[in-house]
Amino acid sequence: MLAIGNPDVLVAFGEIPQPVPAPDEVLIRVEAFSLNRPDFLYLTAPKTTWRPGIDLAGTVVRRASDGMGPPEGTRVLAHSPSGGGAAEWVSVPSRLVVPRPDSQGPLEAAALPLAGLVALRLVREAGTLNGRRVLVTGATGGVGHFAVELVVRAGAHVTALTSQEEPYQRLQELGARVVHSLSDADGPFHVVLESVGGDVMADAIPLLAPRSLVLWFGEASGKPLSLDFFRFFPGREGMTLRHFVYNQLEGADDGRDLSELVRLVTDGRLHPEIGHVADWSETASVLNDLKNRRLRGKAVLRVSGFEAMHRCPCSS
Ligand SMILES: NC(=O)c1ccc[n+]([C@@H]2O[C@H](COP(=O)([O-])OP(=O)(O)OC[C@H]3O[C@@H](n4cnc5c(N)ncnc54)[C@H](OP(=O)(O)O)[C@@H]3O)[C@@H](O)[C@H]2O)c1
Repeated sequence: MLAIGNPDVLVAFGEIPQPVPAPDEVLIRVEAFSLNRPDFLYLTAPKTTWRPGIDLAGTVVRRASDGMGPPEGTRVLAHSPSGGGAAEWVSVPSRLVVPRPDSQGPLEAAALPLAGLVALRLVREAGTLNGRRVLVTGATGGVGHFAVELVVRAGAHVTALTSQEEPYQRLQELGARVVHSLSDADGPFHVVLESVGGDVMADAIPLLAPRSLVLWFGEASGKPLSLDFFRFFPGREGMTLRHFVYNQLEGADDGRDLSELVRLVTDGRLHPEIGHVADWSETASVLNDLKNRRLRGKAVLRVSGFEAMHRCPCSS
């Protein structure tokens, strides 16, 4: 899948050589991939060469030549921060490839890596959550659903802020109180997981507990966060605002965390919220849905083989 310059049709099918894995890489036959907001951001960058597909699931067809990672024939999920998973074949460093049980299909598995890693690590960075009050912004997104479920499971009282009236039922089922405006929210919040930007944090200040922790991990609205130092007085002083980047955390182990995500799902403790499943020939339109916020949770695409090229409306 190739990047193209037209912002309305971000990708097109093209033939590329089968990847030649480096010694530490496994070659995977891709069955499904999911799209993420970074795919969209990178594809809209000037002179982009980005190929989408940060998250994928498939089967190992060639083990890494250094002998590490899963052997041929293993069903896996993989995280490929450099993209390229929207293809029939992809090579990925073996440390970012983990086995999945037969019970976990490729669609569910492809939904997990990036959003799951972000949510898992946010929860870890947030520290003890039992009995705490937590606000999650941008909650209807891929990260949002995972984060809400994990934070509820950690024993916190979760308020999910969603900017759209619908859909939010799933967030309620996961145990969150859902609000569309912070004027309907009950603080005080000890922890905020913030990814929307704009005025959301300024509006949240009156609801913060003293010495609250804000994990700031995105800006989905495209608007910078606005904050007023003096509005923290009196009573909300000492907030910690931490810039969170999931792959810049000390001691984080990708393989271990991907395996933990697989285990959580297998044990029924985490449920990927897949809002949209499509054939990969529909990648361009799904990217547009992502841009226009028509999706809930994760969007997963099936790789159906090259014959899909001829049905693809964006390949001409
Ligand atoms: N820091 C990191 O390491 C890291 C890594 C990966 C992704 N991210 C970021 O984490 C955030 C969540 O990722 P995701 O994959 O869950 O994204 P997503 O599925 O697109 O969800 C983003 C959510 O943000 C909310 N939102 C509010 N205002 C918006 C606006 N004007 N435009 C678009 N969305 C708006 C929407 O939820 P509501 O309708 O419920 O408000 C939307 O569902 C993104 O900002 C992404 O860039 C950060």
